[in-house]
Amino acid sequence: GLKIAVIGGGSSYTPELIDGLIRYYDEFPVAELYLVDIEPGADKLKIIGDLAQRMIDASGKPIKLHTTMDRREAIRGADFVTTQIRVGMLDARSRDEKIPLLFGLIGQETTGAGGFAKALRTIPVILDICREIEELAPDAFLINFTNPAGLVTEAVNKHTKVKSVGLCNLPIGNKMQIAELYDVDQRDLYIEMVGINHLNWTTKVVIDGKDQTQDFLTKIAGRSGFSMKNIPDLEWDAEFITSVGALPCAYHRYYYMKEEMFRELNTTFQETGKTRADDVKEVEAELFELYTQPELVSKPPQLEKRGGAYYSEAAVQLMKSIYNDSGDIQVVNVRNGGVISCLPEDAAIEVNCVIKSDGPHPIVLSGELPPQIRGLLQVVKAYEELTVQAAVFGDYHAALQALTIHPLVGDEQLAKSLIGEILAQNAAYLPQF
Ligand code: G6P
Ligand code: MN
Repeated sequence: GLKIAVIGGGSSYTPELIDGLIRYYDEFPVAELYLVDIEPGADKLKIIGDLAQRMIDASGKPIKLHTTMDRREAIRGADFVTTQIRVGMLDARSRDEKIPLLFGLIGQETTGAGGFAKALRTIPVILDICREIEELAPDAFLINFTNPAGLVTEAVNKHTKVKSVGLCNLPIGNKMQIAELYDVDQRDLYIEMVGINHLNWTTKVVIDGKDQTQDFLTKIAGRSGFSMKNIPDLEWDAEFITSVGALPCAYHRYYYMKEEMFRELNTTFQETGKTRADDVKEVEAELFELYTQPELVSKPPQLEKRGGAYYSEAAVQLMKSIYNDSGDIQVVNVRNGGVISCLPEDAAIEVNCVIKSDGPHPIVLSGELPPQIRGLLQVVKAYEELTVQAAVFGDYHAALQALTIHPLVGDEQLAKSLIGEILAQNAAYLPQF
């Protein structure tokens, strides 16, 4: 039977995944589901395991659930391994978000210096997991939701033999919001998304077979929306949108509205001493409190307070389409292989892909990328290449160049200071340095 291993099974997001596995059971009949975690997460794993069991029992689906600390047992013979880990947990995220703010820079979980720190901590652990997949489940797909998802995918593609796909809920959320804007069924909507994880642009909108891109750009100009729960929803300047000629993703606000976004984050930080990680800790406490209640047998609506809402939709749709060789189109993170001609072939990109049983195949783009998109994309991808090099080999020079060229840093002395602080505050998690 179909076996899935969920690494980081004690995550507050797991009920979201269970919900998806139950809903799509008929097309994706999971027989064995392993939730794995590490010792410090044992209490959370217990709560999640009990809730997952109640959800499965209530659904009547014959999914056999296992919770374990034995990662090898979980991975052995798995068809899909999903990763949703947070190395250093929310405390490390909180530090990632605070260090840049203290230097007057945007402090964010996946973007800029915060995302860089997260990559350094996370990539070595993911590569360890990949070694086990190579040994114990060489045919398995790794479905990685762990951030920074694009960087992790690129590291896995470059340094392991594992078949991997990087996953983000932003594309699916974006599609839901566009369908809502036009009041159409998602099946009648086709969108083209181009870029890399947390930095992609919607370059084309087709409704009922008709190209509505220009109309769409007029509709979104001068309004807010198309954001996520974790990102301040500042409105898009009308003239700016017209000049980009595409809908930037929610995370683009950190680049295109750097000053205002910094003020948003910094004001909260100065007034409360808090960043998003601290808010998320509160939401998690509330979620785990709910999860312990025996009468709860489904995913609670409170999960939608998290930026990763609808993650299961993306994850289960992807696994289901691979399993069924569906050939439908989904936006996921894969090896470029020339689809975005201005980026290296082995770069991880986030684009429309046809999902087959051998994995996602990126689709040729409808046109060349204009310079305003190409330029930012190339520089952030170069930052990512350097960051992968730094994370895998502990290469200080690569780290220094990575942060110096990042648009949210852009200064070698600042980069040096940031790296010093990041290495010091994460010493326990950075064996490569
Ligand atoms: C977005 C991103 C995810 C990220 C999440 C953070 O949805 O796509 O990659 O993990 O937000 O949400 P949080 O509630 O943890 O701030
Ligand atoms: Mn994401």
